[in-house]
Amino acid sequence: MSGCSSNFIFLNVALGVLMCAFTPSVVDARAFFVFGDSLVDNGNNNYLATTARADSPPYGIDYPTHQPTGRFSNGLNIPDIISERLGSEATLPCLSPELQGEKLLVGANFASAGIGILNDTGVQFLNIIRIYRQLQYFEEYQQRVAALIGPQQTEQLVNKALVLITLGGNDYVNNYFLVPYSARSRQFSLPDYGRFLVTEYQKILERLYELGARRVIVTGTGPMGCVPAELATRSRGGQCATEPNKAAALFNPLLAQMIQQLNNDIGSDVFIAANTAQSHKDFISDPQAFGFVTSKIACCGQGPYNGVGLCTPASNLCADRSKYAFWDPFHPTEKANRIIVEQLFNGDSTYMTPMNLSTILALDKDV
Ligand SMILES: *[C@@H]1O[C@H](CO)[C@@H](O)[C@H](O)[C@H]1NC(C)=O
Ligand SMILES: *[C@@H]1O[C@H](CO)[C@@H](O)[C@H](O)[C@H]1NC(C)=O
Repeated sequence: MSGCSSNFIFLNVALGVLMCAFTPSVVDARAFFVFGDSLVDNGNNNYLATTARADSPPYGIDYPTHQPTGRFSNGLNIPDIISERLGSEATLPCLSPELQGEKLLVGANFASAGIGILNDTGVQFLNIIRIYRQLQYFEEYQQRVAALIGPQQTEQLVNKALVLITLGGNDYVNNYFLVPYSARSRQFSLPDYGRFLVTEYQKILERLYELGARRVIVTGTGPMGCVPAELATRSRGGQCATEPNKAAALFNPLLAQMIQQLNNDIGSDVFIAANTAQSHKDFISDPQAFGFVTSKIACCGQGPYNGVGLCTPASNLCADRSKYAFWDPFHPTEKANRIIVEQLFNGDSTYMTPMNLSTILALDKDV
């Protein structure tokens, strides 16, 4: 499927009219671009032949339409809540046929559930948009926008945009830890694998920079051993599983270091490390403080902790999603996503380095 560039010819034809219509709004609006995995996918996988999808009920039960959209959430996901706070519409999946004309100027969502930093992550999901393909789609998107508003305005739109990238979780749960004696776990010790992933991640971030991104929030992985899926399969007595948590504790600090080094090399705070592991830990260690009745049991699922298999129409489903930290065996509820986004905007240096989103938005307003 070549959906991300399917409207190219139409746009060229309509160029004259659209140029006049859209040029003024570009200057004010701040576009938002999203890259990564299921934590931030707004529905690209709906258009693909893959098992990594969230397009059937009860996904979306608390979404404004109460319909599944492909988001791995009961309602809004992290990018949606960021868009909401920016005062923008939600980012459309890059494969959506609706992503054309003026909608292009809002930004786009290139994320695809199941992917990772590595090309061999998520192979079991077949046809998903791996990260280098997401970056290619970003290039094609820029060509389409250039046809609409011209290359200079497009460059400005991209330079001024906010970018979110979320990768890494699947390189562990859907690769290294997927099966005992996985190829990657035979190749690398856990510390060496963390270093390898961060080296590969750096190349991806450098490519994003080449493509014009200048404000990029980079999230680390959550405490992977504490998700209901891991509690169901690897934990003893409901304690967070040790190996996946050790993996996160190795990976996240290396990622933050790499980001700091990259900013030093560039000479500007382009990349912002978001410590989403800490935000998760906050509500995992004291769920009641956030109004949750549990952070161990998923709202939707089956088996111990509702952590076995997928969330489907046949699964157990909790009545009040706002009382649960986890929606399905791997993904937070909208309520938990709101707690995470709150720290992106207002968190101190424990959560956001070198600065939080409130600071960034205030700084960039004057540019
Ligand atoms: C992953 O694939 C991309 C493009 O398909 C390639 O440029 C890159 O080198 C690959 N990464 C690794 C580690 O093999
Ligand atoms: C983050 O955001 C808040 C504004 O809500 C601000 O007061 C705070 O100082 C910011 N930065 C840090 C490093 O805490």
